Formats: sequence, structure tokens, C-alpha cells
Amino acid sequence: MNEPGEPTASHEELRSLDHAYLWHPFTPMQAWFDEDPVVIVRGDGNELIDDGGQRYLDGVSSLWCNVHGHNHPALNAAITAQLGQVAHTTLLGLTNVPAVRLAERLVELAPAGLTRVFYSDNGATAEEAAMKMALQYWHLAGAPGKNRFASLVQAYHGDTLGAVGVGYSETFHRFFKPVLADALRLTPPHVHRWRDRLSHADALQQAVTEARDAIAREADALAAVVVEPLMQGAAGMWPHPPDYLRALREATTEAGVLLICDEVATGFGRTGTMFACEQAGVAPDLLCVAKGITGGYLPLAATLATERIHDAFLGPPAAGRTFYHGHTYTGNPLGCAAALANLDLFARDRTLDRLGPKIARLERLLADEVAPLPQVADVRQCGVMVGIELAADAAERRPYPPADRMGARVTAEARRRGVIVRPLGDVVVLMPPLSITGAEIDRLVTVVRDAIAAVTGT
Ligand SMILES: Cc1ncc(COP(=O)(O)O)c(C=O)c1O
Repeated sequence: MNEPGEPTASHEELRSLDHAYLWHPFTPMQAWFDEDPVVIVRGDGNELIDDGGQRYLDGVSSLWCNVHGHNHPALNAAITAQLGQVAHTTLLGLTNVPAVRLAERLVELAPAGLTRVFYSDNGATAEEAAMKMALQYWHLAGAPGKNRFASLVQAYHGDTLGAVGVGYSETFHRFFKPVLADALRLTPPHVHRWRDRLSHADALQQAVTEARDAIAREADALAAVVVEPLMQGAAGMWPHPPDYLRALREATTEAGVLLICDEVATGFGRTGTMFACEQAGVAPDLLCVAKGITGGYLPLAATLATERIHDAFLGPPAAGRTFYHGHTYTGNPLGCAAALANLDLFARDRTLDRLGPKIARLERLLADEVAPLPQVADVRQCGVMVGIELAADAAERRPYPPADRMGARVTAEARRRGVIVRPLGDVVVLMPPLSITGAEIDRLVTVVRDAIAAVTGT
């Protein structure tokens, strides 16, 4: 019997099996074969531990989902207790206790008016459900011509084909272009890349005017505008001010277009409030959540809808208004039990109240330690979501040649120094769990600073 955390095979065996059988997501596999993989065997608070006993600070919350730390006794206990009842049962034709209780809690927490919870498994499926709800809603409401979406330049909403249509990236998705539904692109007020050298105020004004005009012009064809509120994560951490989100809400309401907020990354405290929408006082028509919903423990997602949207689907079965969409594990009791425990921890630990000083500490340290580095062109932060943009010439904003893989080299160096962070191109992303301590914030920033300095030779 192995002790918890004790490897079940030698590192060499695991490496060769990994290399023989696994296909890793978002991973250039040829380069992967040249690497000695880090094999994680255990989590402990905000740290991950590999099969050699090396501890790493989890600086990206295990792909932006961990909230209260790993191996948390309360989350473990909730999952174990549910396991003693039933692990899985379907929501097609049945219901279950954790799914019902969680739906009530999510409605209480979500922006006003979002009163119906539709479960799925991950961020992309939450997004697909929202898009299909929007399309069917307009059909049922007698406007079948409203069948196009608008989204922000460089948006990311997941990897299924519908989500890729509204979250197109040339590098990732050019192979699928012929089968994608082409979305209307709105350029956000991102001053570093897209509205170069404009003041924040001018960039905002330009972006708002463009968005208002485009939404009004295309209103008859638009089912919905899809947006990651306050922070476009996978774009490379592009923040926009709450005023931009408010303007999108106003423009969509005026034009009779739905607003879908994708809070898959921003939800559950990541921007400093439970949902990013709150900071703009915006309530969307559809809200997508995933990642942090279970504290980062199990794959669960939800699409929340207003009663107006839900009511459009009502009618006798023969009327054919039903939303014929679902997944095998929809409303999985284990996932819902973990999510309930996650929300209990937010209340018990006053997680959001205690987050403010951590965000401020992170901001101060980044300003003092990272922003002054010569190869750092921009530091962007919203809550605990951070992007550090590297550049060959920071003043001129001249990027490194992609072949230099500077972002990947910096994150590899940070890992050698005991901190796991990930790059998005040449943007180094930090997104620690909300449970990160002050000392761990210091360690995160210091290691990343040293890794950037070491790799860029400054
Ligand atoms: C804003 C946003 N939407 C959707 C997704 C997709 O989520 P998942 O990977 O769970 O499908 C992500 C993932 O990073 C995301 O950041």
C-alpha cells in the first residue's frame, strides 16, 4: 500500500509511459518529448508536490480554477460524503439533492435576474449552451434572423467549434475556419496592443463608439454579444474598465440583443468580487461559469439564464420548444457537492473580504519589482489575474521573435525555482489561488522577477 503522495511507479517509468501514450492539451508534443516531465503526485494548500518531493507554488491555480488551495479538508470531506450517497445520476428525467441546492445558491449569488441554472461540464460547454439558448430564444420569440454573435477581438471562450467561432485565434484555429460561424468582432479598449499610445479615456471612448455603432447596425442579425467581463484572460490578460462593460450592456439592451457574460475565468472571486459583472453593476441575460465553481476540484459548469429566456422555451411537449441539449454528467452530484462546499468556504473564511489586501500587495510588488525590468513592456492586473508582457524593446513595444519562446523560457525558469506559472505567448500569466498568503505572494513575484531577469539577461 502506498502512502498518500508516494509515487506508484518510478519517475523513469512514468516518463516513458507518458511519452508513449499521452497527448497533452495545448502542447507542442515534439518539444514535450525532449523534456523531463514534472509528475505531480500531491497537493498541499497552495503548493503542488512532484514525485521527487519538490514543492511548487501553484501560481496559476492549476489552470485558473483552484480557489481555496489543494487537498482542502472541507472540500475533500464534502466530496467523500457525497460519494457515500451517490457519485452520479442523470438530470434527464431525475433530479438530485446537490444539484438542486447548488442551483438555489448560484441564483442567490449571481447578478439580479439570473434565475435559472443549466449545468454542463466545463467552460466551453457552458458557452455552447448559452449560445444555443440565445439562438433558440430568438427563434421562439419570432426573430429567427437573429443568428449571429458579436465578440471581442482575441476573445477566448473555449475549444468547441461554437465557442471557437466567437473566440477565434489565428494561431490556434485557422484549421477550423471553414466550418466556423463568423462572429462580428468588436475591438476592446486595450491600449497596449490595439489602441496603441491612446490614453485610457480616449481608447475607451473610441471602443464604446465603435461597439455601439456596430451593435445598432447589426441588431437585426445579432442574437447576442459575448464578453469576458473586465479581463480577457487568454488574449494575454487584457483588462477593460467597467464602463466598457456597462456600455455593452446599454447598447445590447437598446438594440434588442442579448448579452452573454463569460465568467468562466473571472468568476468566483478572481477579479476581487464574486463575479466581475458586479463591479460594473451589470446583469447579463446569460452568464457562463465553470473553473472555480467547484473550488477547482471537479469538472462542473453552469449557464445561468433570466426567467424571460427560460419562459420562451415553455409550452406543451408537442410544441417543440424544448431545449434539446445536455451531457451525460450534467448536474453531477459530486461536482455539485464540491461547489456547495466551495461556496461555504467563501462564507466561512470571508474569502472576498480578505482578498483586497492581497490584491493590493500583489499590485505593489509588481510595480516595485517587475514593472521596472527593462524587458517588461506592460503589467496588467485585475484582482489576482495578472499578465506581464515581455518585449525585445519595451519602450518601442517591439516583440521578441516568436521562435525565441521567451514566455515559455521564463516560465520554465520559474518552475526550476519552485513556482508554476504559464505563458500566453510572451505574456507571463500569474493567477494564484485566492487562498495565497502574503508570504507566498512575495515568493511568487520574487521568483517571477528573477526568472525574467535570468532569461532576458538583465
Ligand atoms: C473566459 C473563458 N471561457 C471559457 C473557457 C473554457 O473553459 P474550459 O477549458 O473549462 O472549457 C476558458 C478557459 O480558459 C476561459 O478562460
